[in-house]
Amino acid sequence: MKVAFSNRVLSPSTPPILTLWSPQLVSKSDSREARCDSVERVTKVSPPPPELAARYLHTWNSRALYAEPEQFPPISSPGLFGNDHPLEIDIGCATGELVVGLADERPEVNFLGIDIVAKPLWRAVERAVAHDLANTQFLQADMHLAARLIPPGALQTIYLHFPAPLLANRQRRRRLIEPELLGRLAAGLISGGRISFVTDQEPLYHELLNLLPGLPQLELRSQPDDMPIKSHYHVAGRRAVDR
Ligand SMILES: C[S@@+](CC[C@H](N)C(=O)[O-])C[C@H]1O[C@@H](n2cnc3c(N)ncnc32)[C@H](O)[C@@H]1O
Repeated sequence: MKVAFSNRVLSPSTPPILTLWSPQLVSKSDSREARCDSVERVTKVSPPPPELAARYLHTWNSRALYAEPEQFPPISSPGLFGNDHPLEIDIGCATGELVVGLADERPEVNFLGIDIVAKPLWRAVERAVAHDLANTQFLQADMHLAARLIPPGALQTIYLHFPAPLLANRQRRRRLIEPELLGRLAAGLISGGRISFVTDQEPLYHELLNLLPGLPQLELRSQPDDMPIKSHYHVAGRRAVDR
């Protein structure tokens, strides 16, 4: 397997860091979009009952987030969990494998999985319930809007694993790899915090590298593929590569 690493350090002394790992890069985005859709096409799942939804799932409407952001709590441990434990978020968490795996392993840390689509999050809630996790919540919201509610220094780690490339010009408003969102995310990190970015998409990999000079607060490091807990797409992608 070809593994591409970048060891360019943009700002050697200043935390936080952005770790970048890229398994076998592919240049065509079509197959990637199709596989991303397959993560979103979750069938045979029902909304959680009200008592479990109240415990595990927030649903933040885009119109209200845009017009009246003050209605919503901050994306922070005090705002969502009522404590001051470190907070880690998974953007585009889909069915929640990564969040639930990490939360199960590190009960002293809070985890928030965020996705714009409801059904995968219902599956993610089922997983959290099965593990009886007290340190996990999920948020259905558009990250472009929700990111405004991240206070400076609220986050220990941000996972951005296998986002859809959305490189066509008509898709640019939906991209998660774009300067404004990345700037807000970087500002939300604690000193020494980390954005963990993983992609198998060559154009997206280069897009991120191109954007990094505009984010001098982030130090870039490579990230080996030794993550013991993997997202849905990470596992599916590895299976396809190993086949
Ligand atoms: C294939 S997926 C990657 C899922 C997961 N990170 C993984 O590695 O398996 C991209 C996910 O990002 C979510 N997403 C796309 N745009 C988003 C947005 N603006 N806000 C929040 N989630 C978004 C999609 O619904 C989808 O579940």
